[in-house]
Amino acid sequence: RLLIWEEDMLIVKKFGGSSVADKERIFKLDTPNTSYLLGIVDEENFIGHIYYGKRLQGHDIAYRMRTQEAPFVPSQNNRERCSFYDCFPFEYPTAGLGDYRESCLSVRTMGGYLGCNLSYVSHRILEGKPQLEGLPATFADKETATTLELTCVDSHIGMKALLYYTAFCDTDVITRSVKIINEGTQAFYLTKVLSACLDMDNQDYEMISLHGSWARERHIQRKKVGYGIQKVSSFRGESSHQDHPFLALVSPNTTQEMGEVYAMNFVYSGNFQAQAEVSQFDSIRMSMGIHPENFCWKLEQGESFQAPEVVMVYSSQGLDGMTTAFHHLYKRHLIRGEYKDKKRPILINNWEATYFDFNEDKLVALIGEAKHLGVDMFLLDDGWFANKYPRSSDHQGLGDWTETADKLPNGIGKLTAEAKKQGVKFGIWIEPEMVNPKSELYEKHKDWVIRFPNREEYYFRNQLVLDLSNPAVQDHVFGVVDQLMTKYPDIAFFKWDCNSPITNIYSTYLKGKQTHLYIDYVRGLYKVLERVKAKYPNLPMMLCAGGGGRSDFEALKYFTEFWPSDNTDPIERLFIQWGFSQVFPSKTLCAHVTTWNKKTSVKFRTDVAMMCKLGFDIKMDDLTNDEQTYCRQAVQEYNRLKPVILEGDLYRLVSPYEGEREHTSSMYISKDKSNAVVFAFDIHPRYGERLLPVRLQGLEANRMYKVKEINLMPGAWPSLGGNDQVYSGEYLMTVGLGLFTGQDLSSRIIEVSAQ
Ligand code: DGJ
Repeated sequence: RLLIWEEDMLIVKKFGGSSVADKERIFKLDTPNTSYLLGIVDEENFIGHIYYGKRLQGHDIAYRMRTQEAPFVPSQNNRERCSFYDCFPFEYPTAGLGDYRESCLSVRTMGGYLGCNLSYVSHRILEGKPQLEGLPATFADKETATTLELTCVDSHIGMKALLYYTAFCDTDVITRSVKIINEGTQAFYLTKVLSACLDMDNQDYEMISLHGSWARERHIQRKKVGYGIQKVSSFRGESSHQDHPFLALVSPNTTQEMGEVYAMNFVYSGNFQAQAEVSQFDSIRMSMGIHPENFCWKLEQGESFQAPEVVMVYSSQGLDGMTTAFHHLYKRHLIRGEYKDKKRPILINNWEATYFDFNEDKLVALIGEAKHLGVDMFLLDDGWFANKYPRSSDHQGLGDWTETADKLPNGIGKLTAEAKKQGVKFGIWIEPEMVNPKSELYEKHKDWVIRFPNREEYYFRNQLVLDLSNPAVQDHVFGVVDQLMTKYPDIAFFKWDCNSPITNIYSTYLKGKQTHLYIDYVRGLYKVLERVKAKYPNLPMMLCAGGGGRSDFEALKYFTEFWPSDNTDPIERLFIQWGFSQVFPSKTLCAHVTTWNKKTSVKFRTDVAMMCKLGFDIKMDDLTNDEQTYCRQAVQEYNRLKPVILEGDLYRLVSPYEGEREHTSSMYISKDKSNAVVFAFDIHPRYGERLLPVRLQGLEANRMYKVKEINLMPGAWPSLGGNDQVYSGEYLMTVGLGLFTGQDLSSRIIEVSAQ
């Protein structure tokens, strides 16, 4: 890349960029293993992108940049053919001047003028990381991060833009965000405000996205990036099942452990777009931000608009390097302090055991089963509330949050008392952002519902979304949690569900500002969650959105965990969890043992669930005695191994996407590298297939480790060759272990302990 940089300097001459890049005008941001360079073109004061990649060892490169002409402008071949704007690698491109790639910022003035232009005026270097106005974001103190704030203006409009770059010193992450301020004499409209952009030379990149749908969340899609725009997005009002707000560009030879990765992840739970555009001149622009569909923000004089944060990662060590950066970011800079060291409770949920068909006796019996199984908590799911329209199916009752008297004559209090008696905690399901048209809430407060006053309503799962842009609705939603907690202080956990995207996009409250609704909805939601956090700082919450429809980094500021998918078929889960693991650590991903796919053994199902935050959603009656014994032992083993599985570093050893999807294996290792847990699964081995050993990773080469197969069914013997033997870390990492078998649907968990 340094070479390309040198070539580029020639081009600067052609465009009259005369500048010697002095040190005020080149900014170099370093993380432990990466560098990011940007600079100012003298005459125009444009901010240009110079370099993002492997860490450049300090002053040598900085010196060259100071003493040479500014290193802007793209590929050598195209320098004769493209206009300055259309080729320049912008840090934050604007629309309407002559850059025909898709911009990050579009403005319309009151007079109807389009087009804007940002020129650098000043900068500040701040210790730590300033708070984002009104939005949750990653956090960092002055010991762990430095922030570059660039101030730019469009003096024709009177618009100021603050571009923020925060470089972390304990993880290879740079975060970016943008704030637009109206310092002019008139209002103007923002029709697009993305949060980050990366202009580079195209190196035949491939793009990886995490797409999906209900019950198929976060499947990995990898494809070549061709000319034009390729994008992933959501304008459902939530970060969505269909795509995760994530995009990675990788070199064609990038694997799990090797090769270059440029990744972006959005800290935002609403509409987004992430795209890669290869221009006719073979530059590539990667960008991410709020989806411009149905977005138009009127910025009055003196007002500002804060765009959410993008997390950028560069890895030269393949996808594992990227994942490590994201996981460290979560563990060090996103997770709320109160939850950092909290043990995540293992719970049993009644949803798949009963669906809506339960009463007090059945629940009391299930609470007894929770105790019998040795788990920490019983979670009561959907179906416990509403009286005029009892919640006996998903057609009615949402919004009316009082216990159904027929089902629970003694209320939730009886259940929390029963749980206490059995020594387990009690958690409860809510879906407070929603309403069924068949509910008392809807009858009373149609004005609180996102719906057109003049059109027929369109339903998703028979329900509508409440208008969280309205402070009265925010009070109502907060009140759902607050009233339950006030009445039943023994509630120790919430599962917060959200089963509909925003439909019928109209807010009575916002009147003439309908194009603010998607944004104000998310802001309203986070205001509510702030209040919940302030009043109940120690209350853990699982976020569910019909499965993984709203799992993103912003949500993780408030929720301890996600329900990644309603699909608990363990084979499907191997793929879904693999996809989620690219970005999210295991402690944020709930995985339950259920009756989905009865062709798989209870051991296989449990072993898959033990890779994440283990739970159960099954009746003990569905299990044989041996299976029950096995599950009880698995709970004990899991409790013992939790520190490694939930806090350790993940290494993905064999991808289920590789080959013909026959096998997969992953491992977690403790920080001090003394304990590891290895998971191996045979899905559908081929006849006569040659089974290769699996090489472990992350161990210390010179240390000796004992390997031991655990989690065996009662009466079963370990079948692992070399079980209970001691090997060097080097042997395990270079020769490996014969973890796979030729048997369909077989699973193994191996404990590796330093001697
Ligand atoms: C969708 C969730 O994903 C399920 O786990 C369950 O809570 C249902 N909602 C309840 O309606």
